[in-house]
Amino acid sequence: MKQRATFNTKLGLVMASVGSAVGLGNIWRFPCEAGENGGGAFLIVYILCVMVFGLVVMLAEFFIGRASQKDSVGAFKTLAPNTMWKIVGYNGVIAAFFILGFYSVVSGWTLEYIYQSVTGGLKTDTVEQLAENFGSFTSDIFRPLLWIFIFTLITHFVVLSGVKKGIERASKLMMPLLFVILIILCIRSVMLPNAIEGLEFLFKPDFDKIDSKVILSALGQAFFSVSVGMGCMITYGSYFNKSINMPGTAVSVVTLDTLVAILAGIVIFPAVTSFGISPSQGPKLVFITLPNIFQQMPFGNLWSFIFFLLLTIAALTSIISIHEVITAYLHDQYKMSRRKAATIVSLSGFTLCIVCSLSFGILSDFKIFGLTTFELFDYVTAKLMLPLGGMFICIFTGWFIDKKVLKAELTNNGTIKFALFSAFVFLLKFIVPIVISLVFINELGMF
Ligand code: TRP
Repeated sequence: MKQRATFNTKLGLVMASVGSAVGLGNIWRFPCEAGENGGGAFLIVYILCVMVFGLVVMLAEFFIGRASQKDSVGAFKTLAPNTMWKIVGYNGVIAAFFILGFYSVVSGWTLEYIYQSVTGGLKTDTVEQLAENFGSFTSDIFRPLLWIFIFTLITHFVVLSGVKKGIERASKLMMPLLFVILIILCIRSVMLPNAIEGLEFLFKPDFDKIDSKVILSALGQAFFSVSVGMGCMITYGSYFNKSINMPGTAVSVVTLDTLVAILAGIVIFPAVTSFGISPSQGPKLVFITLPNIFQQMPFGNLWSFIFFLLLTIAALTSIISIHEVITAYLHDQYKMSRRKAATIVSLSGFTLCIVCSLSFGILSDFKIFGLTTFELFDYVTAKLMLPLGGMFICIFTGWFIDKKVLKAELTNNGTIKFALFSAFVFLLKFIVPIVISLVFINELGMF
């Protein structure tokens, strides 16, 4: 049998996992959720969710991936043959499709905004004009689709080049660049007049605002942001070689991801309050308020070019990982060539994107449960499929897997230390499943 592809270097592997984690989730979705859920209150719950739940699920996924050396469905078939556990894997593959559907739409917008920064299309004086600009662009039929198509094409070719040459190389190049750009923007933003108000909004918690809606939003955002709950890290884990320190890697990925989200918050909220804009504007926040802010700064077009380039890079390395979940599934389970598998994923993903993109225009009245298709895919994945997927991944690893096997895999057969192993198992078995169940029961109004 052919040996499974692995990442080349340790740095490359951490970068690829960080690349998956850091994305539109940190820079577009995080400020939007934080803005809508009360700022500081949300941030605290979010950090708790990421550092405890995100980390635990990520490590469980790494374990499942590396122990089985399989895609997200194959992994459950290998570790628990002839059981229902493979449903958790299917949940992941389906979630990957839905995420691909709305994520690529926003990625396409970032390309348009790079283009507009270069051609000076964002050079307007008022927020209203920028809002109109955004509205007429996103409700257009063809223009967003063109950018989504270009974005899908780029993703397609990176995924096609395979694990080492494509994913690893792209991430190693792009991730450090992203950090540099983000830090420059942070410095710029905190020097704006009134920046302190924005920082207060982000960092000063108002505990009265914490309710089950805030907790579910924070939990969903945490899982979304570190790419767990749907087998993405199972798939990447299957490419790890046996000498990788998985607990250490998980801690690095989660920490870097949280750092990027907070940095993005520091870029966005001071800029928002400095110009007297409301932070709770939803998906528009980044695309309307930020260009406005850039335009009021010296070299505005340059700043917005840099920012949207950053956003595109972040989106690309994440989307690659979502694409890879489905591609690896088709490649492993149906013995398809990578090329064929990737082509099927790109084409069907693009079809879903068309529906999501049109939901900002001609399909805006087509609603399911009161949500447009774009909103529905976002809601169903982040607030249902990822938390539930994460919960069952923990139950599986905590209750079904032999603890000796788990420990041997996580300590590389005893060659590295994992002092918190018992705490990890306790979280897997009890805390994560119980807390997530409570959040759902509460959210469904059963209390
Ligand atoms: N984590 C990425 C972001 O923050 C998005 C992402 C990539 C993702 N892979 C995932 C989300 C798997 C959920 C599951 O933008």
